[in-house]
Amino acid sequence: MCKFALLWLFLVALVTFVRSDTPANCTFESIRGAWTFSIGQGGGDNTINCTADFKPVSEYDVVLYFPDVAFDQYGNQGRWTLIYNQGFEVRINKKRFFAFSKYTQDGKKVTSYCSQTFPGWVHDDDERNWACYSGQKKGDEMPKQHQLHRSEFFNNWKYKSNAEFIQRINKHQKSWTATVYPEYSGMMLSDMTRRSGGRRSADAFPKTARVLPETQKVADRLPKNFDWRDVNGQNFVSPVRNQKTCGSCYAFGSMALHEARLRIATNNTVQKVFSTQDIVSCSEYSQGCDGGFPYLIAGKYGQDFGLIEDSCFTYKAKDVKCITTTCPRYYTRDYYYVGGFYGGCNEALMRIEVAKYGPVAVSFQVYPDFQHYKSGIYHHTELLDRFNPWEITNHVVLIVGYGQDADSGEKYWIVKNSWGETWGEEGFFRISRGNDECSIESMVVGTLPIL
Ligand SMILES: *[C@@H]1O[C@H](CO)[C@@H](O)[C@H](O)[C@H]1NC(C)=O
Ligand SMILES: *[C@@H]1O[C@H](CO)[C@@H](O)[C@H](O)[C@H]1NC(C)=O
Ligand SMILES: *[C@@H]1O[C@H](CO)[C@@H](O)[C@H](O)[C@H]1NC(C)=O
Repeated sequence: MCKFALLWLFLVALVTFVRSDTPANCTFESIRGAWTFSIGQGGGDNTINCTADFKPVSEYDVVLYFPDVAFDQYGNQGRWTLIYNQGFEVRINKKRFFAFSKYTQDGKKVTSYCSQTFPGWVHDDDERNWACYSGQKKGDEMPKQHQLHRSEFFNNWKYKSNAEFIQRINKHQKSWTATVYPEYSGMMLSDMTRRSGGRRSADAFPKTARVLPETQKVADRLPKNFDWRDVNGQNFVSPVRNQKTCGSCYAFGSMALHEARLRIATNNTVQKVFSTQDIVSCSEYSQGCDGGFPYLIAGKYGQDFGLIEDSCFTYKAKDVKCITTTCPRYYTRDYYYVGGFYGGCNEALMRIEVAKYGPVAVSFQVYPDFQHYKSGIYHHTELLDRFNPWEITNHVVLIVGYGQDADSGEKYWIVKNSWGETWGEEGFFRISRGNDECSIESMVVGTLPIL
């Protein structure tokens, strides 16, 4: 290749940099401990702008203990949870605090200041009395640096169909089949990355929690197969959609969660489809087409701002400006990580949650082989696609049921994807259950709708 072409490729590569979520990498170790929250003027509502500078008028001390207990300076006990490696939420003294962890980014160099937060939001449990706040951890914590991955260089590569890769997958194992998706040909690798959740800044999936004997007993009494698409002939799962090449899987997974839970709570009499574009364009709890997390969207955004119907702000698959609407809003009553906090989940708890309360939004790791899933029970094969440089991404989807294959005995989750109805098993896939396949049993979110 001539020098000029190389230079051109390099420049374009810089412009189309794909990242996912925020690039911060703040884990339990760096967040647990004693914090001072500096809080601005209270009495606001959810139109408060915490991106602008605010003047602290009071200080509030909390200590965060591993994994989920918080105490404040008055001795009140509350709870907290980490949200992946992005930030943390504290619920204490009838208030909810949430802020993203602080970071700076200079090209590929990311510095995480995990002992500080960006300005965040605090309000009473009943949504009144909003204020901005920021957190500062006591004691010295060194900023952590890491480099983003080098291979954004490949973003401008076009995907090349690789029949040989598909054949290898299908020869290697019999649980699932891979297929060629003609629509991938000519897609930019950067778009395929975005569609799968965006390049991750770090592997921060928690390990699954130990299954307590009481939990196991409850799980053992559940039906062997359960599917919200067919409960005595009724379907409580809203139609499969297509996120296209925007990194909005978290918005689709979150809306799908609320849609299904609303159907279940109303015995299928309220069948709404909610606006994913409203999330992409308007939510400050996520990063538009660059990613986000169901805990903060189906959960916190749904509770603080409410969701509007899709017809009110239809999907554009890109970062367009937020619109103000007078459309009715649908709210989330409560939201939680299954298991109670980030790191508290396991297969038994998930099965109980799904069978008793409804579908759950989950995050998992997408490998190159998954793109080609057609049918069967997926597990990662560790085979590589030599034509298409590819990095592992974090994707968000909705678990709608579980089962066990009558012949092979293989256990699986039934999962709704957001890659259209022609992908996989009519837009769904099944994935191995009980061994935290691709981390799918580690970060699981449930919500309760307000009717
Ligand atoms: C919040 O304030 C910042 C800084 O003044 C401004 O850039 C931003 O547009 C504001 N956001 C909203 C939603 O008004
Ligand atoms: C993120 O932080 C964890 C814990 O400090 C570390 O093990 C991991 O390597 C970091 N990841 C990146 C990409 O920096
Ligand atoms: C729920 O809807 C089904 C189907 O319309 C109906 O047969 C059933 O009686 C309803 N259940 C309740 C509790 O209303």
